[in-house]
Amino acid sequence: MHQAGQETGFYTRGMSLLILGIESSCDETGVALVRSTGDAVPTLLSHALHSQIEMHQAYGGVVPELASRDHIRRVLPLATQVLTESGQTLADVDVVAYTRGPGLAGALLVGAGVACALGAALGKPVLGVHHLEGHLLSPFLSADPPEFPFVALLVSGGHTQLMRVDGVGRYEILGETIDDAAGEAFDKSAKLMGLGYPGGPALSRLAEQGDATAFKLPRPLLHSGNLDFSFAGLKTAVLTQAKKLGDELEARKADLAASTEAAIVDVLVKKTLTALKQTGLKRVVVAGGVGANRHLRAQLNAACAQNKVRVHYPELNLCTDNGAMIAMAAAMRLQAGQQEARTDYAFDVKPRWPLDAITAASVG
Ligand code: KG4
Ligand code: ZN
Repeated sequence: MHQAGQETGFYTRGMSLLILGIESSCDETGVALVRSTGDAVPTLLSHALHSQIEMHQAYGGVVPELASRDHIRRVLPLATQVLTESGQTLADVDVVAYTRGPGLAGALLVGAGVACALGAALGKPVLGVHHLEGHLLSPFLSADPPEFPFVALLVSGGHTQLMRVDGVGRYEILGETIDDAAGEAFDKSAKLMGLGYPGGPALSRLAEQGDATAFKLPRPLLHSGNLDFSFAGLKTAVLTQAKKLGDELEARKADLAASTEAAIVDVLVKKTLTALKQTGLKRVVVAGGVGANRHLRAQLNAACAQNKVRVHYPELNLCTDNGAMIAMAAAMRLQAGQQEARTDYAFDVKPRWPLDAITAASVG
């Protein structure tokens, strides 16, 4: 477990660091190398990913025990791969970063255990990262990195939040989902339509051939006046519609998919605009798996252009879980003096861990 007083204090401002990042919170093993030089935006040297989608597909969702076992098999070969690809060796690594939470406990333990064992073997400090902060900061890895402050729309499989972000570790939650996350709404609706796992990308692909106005689906909390979301009712409405269609469902599936996607995206875009209005900010950052959704990008781009707002996304391949965002968040936290790396190599994981727990404070 983390003990007080074991921080290294090794980082001095301006130092150049090679950071190895390990992500293992769910069904993706991600490893990456990021270079942090001075106060400049850190750069990605290489990253490698193994997705467990195929393995879990047969079960219609993630099987936690299988996920943990697969992370064990994948993580070291992926680390070797990123080192080789970037012409570095383990001895060059200055810090080992890993996802400390939130996520599946067993899966997190694999990444944390491997990271701390590597750190101890190399005599290098380690740093536990919040998975959502990784998503949040992942747009800084893009060719068009944002500048603080901005509104962030964080839309993943487990979370839907609007935030005001004033700097690294300076996050104010403006609104969040009171039930299902946006990704969950995609996944559950897709499952009801027999589209398998993971549902988001499958539903989105099918939606491209459908008519988004074919079915009237609810836009929960759209006019609630606050920035909270609710997607549980949408799933029920999709189920009711699917039942009503009966034998016709197969022929109308693309229309139902397009209508579902439109309902989710509509709420996300409208609430994001409200958050921009409320904060007076002119910049928005989208992060998390649902940020890969094409319809969301198109609608948000149009709305932002109309309102003279700059919008930033992570690179498409860095929207879903990956090691690069973990190494990046570690680099930015160190640069900002928000967190120390540690050399006690004792670790815990935090399967449930609200993002505001790491706001403007070092992680204990
Ligand atoms: O951020 P992420 O990889 O994992 C979590 O931290 O949860 O997000 C995964 C979620 C899943 O719900 C998946 O269905 C959704 O992101 N997703 C998408 C798309 N790609 C991934 N949803 C809609 N459209 C997509 N293109
Ligand atoms: Zn994620």
